[in-house]
Amino acid sequence: MGSEGGDGYGLEPCSPPKVLPNRPLPGVEETAGMNPLMRGMASSLGSKLVVALTGAGLIGFVIAHMAGNLQMFIGQDAVNAYAAQLKSMPELLWVMRIGLIGVAAAHVVTAVRLAASNKAARPVAYHAAGSIQQTTSARTMVLTGLLVLAFVVYHLAHFTWGLVHADAFSLVDAQGRHDVFSMTVLGFQQPIVAGAYLLAMLLLALHLLHGAASLFQTWGVTNQAWAPLFKTAAKGLAWVILIGNASMPIAVQLGLIVPPAGVGS
Ligand code: HEM
Repeated sequence: MGSEGGDGYGLEPCSPPKVLPNRPLPGVEETAGMNPLMRGMASSLGSKLVVALTGAGLIGFVIAHMAGNLQMFIGQDAVNAYAAQLKSMPELLWVMRIGLIGVAAAHVVTAVRLAASNKAARPVAYHAAGSIQQTTSARTMVLTGLLVLAFVVYHLAHFTWGLVHADAFSLVDAQGRHDVFSMTVLGFQQPIVAGAYLLAMLLLALHLLHGAASLFQTWGVTNQAWAPLFKTAAKGLAWVILIGNASMPIAVQLGLIVPPAGVGS
């Protein structure tokens, strides 16, 4: 998928990695009076660490969520039982939701500020032929990140709030549980919905392709022996998430996953 270069936020686009200037982010004029934690977070290196740690947390969520969703291939009972079990622990669910919102907000706000700061610090675009070879994934980190965020809002409106495709959201199964399985299948049976999910999964994979690789760089895993291995692992992770998530709308479109008898006909 092309060579890696830069961190997607405009920092050190050349290899090998070099020591980064630890400057305050825009809007943070003075860091001297802050405690060390705040000062660290307001600096570019501290911000990179925040983006990396929150990014790792979000990757963890995406993997766990995908593993639960892949029960779509087992069937209606497995998916609905799993969803009902999650909702049977509302306290835990809300702690996780609030944690996820906090982590996602910190990731987006810090990454956007970091990108703006790096752009401001490098007002003249590089144009010497052959000097910088950034991948598409690296160059479009902010764009793909914001598009994935837009997808998540649509996704919540679809599957969590029932604001779009509301008819399928109100379905219940024979045991009186929210029929998450049928809701998902009926959604993915609409080509435009399946297409939108596939596009979003491609954008997510593009984001992760570079994001996961630069996690290791931020954590200092840049030595010659291990860096290629971690980069390959990061790419493998992006591919696994793409294939796992995309398999569901594709399976529904191909008729491999169908709604239960009497639903949607
Ligand atoms: C084809 C892929 C996906 C499927 C089939 C899917 C399915 C679902 C379903 C059915 C729900 C509602 C669960 C329930 O009501 O019990 C849900 C919630 C959610 N999904 Fe997805 N999802 C997919 C991909 C994603 C991705 C890629 C993200 C993030 C980047 C994501 C983020 C969320 C979030 C944040 C919630 C809300 C969880 C909560 O209510 O606490 N989903 N998803």
